[in-house]
Amino acid sequence: MRKPILKVALASTLVFGAVGAQAAFAQAAGVKQNQPVNVFDKKVVNKINADNIYTNIDYLSQTPRVAGTESEYNAVQYIKSQFESYGYETEIQPFTFYGYTPPSNMELTIDGYGGELQPRSFTYSVNGDVSGELEFAGQGTPEELEGADLTGKIALIQRGSISFAEKVLNAAEKGAAGVIIFNNAEGPLSGTLGAHNEEYVPALALSKAEGEAILALLESGESLTASLTIEGAEAGEKISHNVIATKKPTSKKKANDDIIVVGSHHDSVAGAPGANDDASGTAMTLELARVFKEIPTDTEIRFVTFGAEELGLIGSYHYVDSLSDDEISRTIANFNLDMVGSRDAGDLVMMTLDGKENLVTELSQASSERLNGEPTPVYQGGRSDHVPFAEAGIPAALFIHSPTEPWYHSPEDTIDKISKEKLQDAAEIVGTAIYDKARFDNMGPKPKKKHKMKAAPEMVYEQDVK
Ligand code: BES
Ligand code: ZN
Repeated sequence: MRKPILKVALASTLVFGAVGAQAAFAQAAGVKQNQPVNVFDKKVVNKINADNIYTNIDYLSQTPRVAGTESEYNAVQYIKSQFESYGYETEIQPFTFYGYTPPSNMELTIDGYGGELQPRSFTYSVNGDVSGELEFAGQGTPEELEGADLTGKIALIQRGSISFAEKVLNAAEKGAAGVIIFNNAEGPLSGTLGAHNEEYVPALALSKAEGEAILALLESGESLTASLTIEGAEAGEKISHNVIATKKPTSKKKANDDIIVVGSHHDSVAGAPGANDDASGTAMTLELARVFKEIPTDTEIRFVTFGAEELGLIGSYHYVDSLSDDEISRTIANFNLDMVGSRDAGDLVMMTLDGKENLVTELSQASSERLNGEPTPVYQGGRSDHVPFAEAGIPAALFIHSPTEPWYHSPEDTIDKISKEKLQDAAEIVGTAIYDKARFDNMGPKPKKKHKMKAAPEMVYEQDVK
């Protein structure tokens, strides 16, 4: 909730007008961190309209937007047309990646086992129709399989020690026709083989309970035959796109060389309409673009929506890789908006790859303090499109509500769970933080510190491959 100070401060800036505000700044110099909302903030805040953001989330979240699919491309075209309707020149930046379409059908039967089975495929499981004698192969490590002959057999393997891909390859090397991997923790097992490999044999996953029940039968001396069918899976090169709208400095004369990138990812995971993840950030990027079109700035601002984030930040890596050394050194900030509107999530936080403050968090803490009376906290976190920027030494932060909502990556991530109040609040904090840096220098005090990170920190998220 907003502090009452806001209303008073707004009223006083209204009275001052732009010239009066400069005088007020001169007096307030030195106590910048605690300044109330100012005339510059107001310029941005007054233009941001959460209804616009909501309407665009609604449009984008009609279907899932899985990278490389037609629905992602439709979203890309829509985003481009929205940017253009605000008057931006907009570039669609294509890139290819190796994608995977999950099977349309999979079956697993084990003759001699009476229980029900609910097999899952791995990402990159290959198609096939195989059957053979079932043999337990431990965790499928090279040591356990030394001297084993699995020719024509189906290997039953427990999760743990090595990656799913290694288990499948080790068993295949010993002649296995197929592989079943069961969980070593409660619940179903969904994992990835990491990448396509011609050497894979068909592989399915079972829960711990299912795997242990089958193993108990084998260990009691039963002989079991397993049949495994996987159909419709498709691995191959796919195309996704980033969408880039650029706002050049308003006047060449007083411009600086800096570039600020505001972005979000427009793709979603399969089966999820992705209203919050991340139509919310995409629609907020659009709204900030609309707002800034009418506001003079001395800094270049790029509004970018990325494709294929959910498949490993592929679009944002492509964007950063496509920058020249000169552009990288001129890019002073990346504001990454990912999951910024859920009614059911916690408060707004910022996450940086190294957990440290940087230009983005400092500008945003100052703006949130001016607007709401308290600074948005900073935590450590990767898992989104700010990572490639941070790795390139660019100050970057993820804006997200934490803890995240229960609908994350589910079919329930829909428009009805979106809060206009949360959208408005996050957009105001980010918009005023950007304007604090990007407005013309002669309009009042601006932070002058030049931030540059040296090291390229390691990726911090883990992929579930073991
Ligand atoms: N929006 C999420 C990132 C996220 C979720 C960050 C919850 C912090 C808390 C993002 O779209 C996502 O799902 N990322 C992947 C990792 C990515 C590298 C594929 C994830 O977190 O599983
Ligand atoms: Zn996301």
